[in-house]
Amino acid sequence: MVTMEKIVSLCKRRGFIAPSSEIYGGFESCYDYGFLGALLKNNIKQNWWKTMTQYRDDIVGVDASILMSPKVWQASGHLTAGFADPLVECINCHKRFRKDHLKDKDRCPDCGHEPLGKERKFNLMMKTFIGPVEDEAAVTYLRGETCQGIYMNYQFMRDAMRMKVPFGIAQIGKAFRNEITPRYFIFKTREFEQMEMQYFVEPDEKEKKKLFDYWKKERMKWYLGLGVKKENLRFREHQKDELAHYAKKAVDIEYKFPWGWDEIEGIHDRGDWDLSNHSKHSGQDLSYFDEQTKNKFIPHIIETSAGADRAVLTFLVEAYDEVKGGRTETTESKKESEVVLRLNKELAPIKVTILPLVKNKKDLVKKAKEVYGLLKFHWMCQYDEVGSIGRRYRRGDEIAVPFVITIDFDSLKNDDVTVRDRDTMKQERIKIKELVDYLREKLGE
Ligand code: GAP
Repeated sequence: MVTMEKIVSLCKRRGFIAPSSEIYGGFESCYDYGFLGALLKNNIKQNWWKTMTQYRDDIVGVDASILMSPKVWQASGHLTAGFADPLVECINCHKRFRKDHLKDKDRCPDCGHEPLGKERKFNLMMKTFIGPVEDEAAVTYLRGETCQGIYMNYQFMRDAMRMKVPFGIAQIGKAFRNEITPRYFIFKTREFEQMEMQYFVEPDEKEKKKLFDYWKKERMKWYLGLGVKKENLRFREHQKDELAHYAKKAVDIEYKFPWGWDEIEGIHDRGDWDLSNHSKHSGQDLSYFDEQTKNKFIPHIIETSAGADRAVLTFLVEAYDEVKGGRTETTESKKESEVVLRLNKELAPIKVTILPLVKNKKDLVKKAKEVYGLLKFHWMCQYDEVGSIGRRYRRGDEIAVPFVITIDFDSLKNDDVTVRDRDTMKQERIKIKELVDYLREKLGE
C-alpha cells in the first residue's frame, strides 16, 4: 500500500523533492524540487498550459507580476476577514491551532489544557515591503492567489488579443499564504504554485449554456486523461457556510490520498465579484460591450484553480506501485520488492535510458553514447552504465522511465538495439535508424 512515508522517501532518494534549506535543518514546510521533480512539475504545467491555451481558441495566457499594488488586495477582499482562518492559542502551552480543524473545540490537543484561548481571525496574506523604508506606505503583499494577476490583465488581453466574451485567461505561477497548519509534504505549504484559468462570461449565457458544469467536466477529464483512476477522484460541492468570500458556488475535485479524500482543484463561480470590485476601486470601467446584442455588462467569472504541487503529489501517489518479490525479469533477490512509478508517459521526467550491456567494452560504450547523442535532442534522456542490467532497469522503473534501450554485442553487427517497455517489460529489437520514429509513436507524439 502506498503511504506518505514511501512517497517522501522516494522523492528524496531519487532527486524529486527535498526540504528547503536542508543544511540548516529545513525551513517552515518549504520544499525544493530537484531535477526529476522539476522535470515532472514542468511536464504537468506544460500539459495544462497546452490544454488550456494551445488546444483551444477561446483562452489566452499571461505571466503577471507576483508583486502588485496593495490596492488590488484591498479591492479583492483579501485584506479583510474573508481571507483569514480562525486561530486559537492555548493559554497554557501557547501552541496555535486552526479552530475549525480541532476535534475537541475547547481542549488543547497538545497539552490537554482546557479551556483554549479566544478565537481570532488570522489573515493569510504574506506582507512585504517595497523599497528601502519599511513603513506602512511601503507595505505590499506576495499574491495570495494568481487569478488577481489575471484580472489586472483582463482589459489588456481583451483588447490586444481581440477576445470576445466568452473567453478565458490562463496563468501558472507562485502564490503565498501564511497557512497556520501546513501539512502532508507538498500538499499544503506556504509557498505553492497554482494553475488558474478565469473564464469571462455573459451572466445569462453562463446559466443557459451550463458553463459551470462544462468546466467541472473538462477539469475532471484532464486528471483522468493523465492516468488518474476514476475511483480515486470525486467532486465535492461546498456548503454555503464554507464558501470563500468571492464565491457564489464552489465545487472541489478531490483525490483519495493516503490520509483520505482531499482537495486538488476548485471550480468556482465568482459571479461579478472581482471585476465589479476592481471597477469600483480603480475607477476604470471594466464592463463589456457586446457589439451584436448591444448589451453592456460586467462579465461573470468561472474559475478553475488547480495546485501544481498538489497535481505533482496526486500523480506520484497514483503512479506508485510496489511489486512484491520483484518483477521476474530483473530481480536478483526474490525477497525484495521493486518500485515501479507508472507515470503517464507524457509526464515522465526522463523518457529514455540508454545502457551499454557492459561498461568495460569500449565498442559498446561508444555505440551507446552515439545512441544517447542521437536521442537527447528529441527527449530528456539519460545514459547509465553503472551496475548490472537488472539493477539499471530497476533504477529506471523507480523514476518512471518509459523506455530503456540496451546496446549489446548484436547491436555492433546489426545496428539495432533492444527497447524495453517499463509497464509490460516486453523487449523489442529496433534498428537504430528507426528509433526516433518508433519512440515518437510509442510516446504518442
Ligand atoms: N483563486 C482561487 C483559489 O485560490 P483555493 O481553493 O484557495 O482557490 C485553489 O485554491 C487551489 O490551489 C487548491 O485546490 C490547491 O490545489 C491549491 N492550493 C491552495 N492553497 C494551497 C497551499 N497552501 N498549498 C498548496 N496548494 C494550495
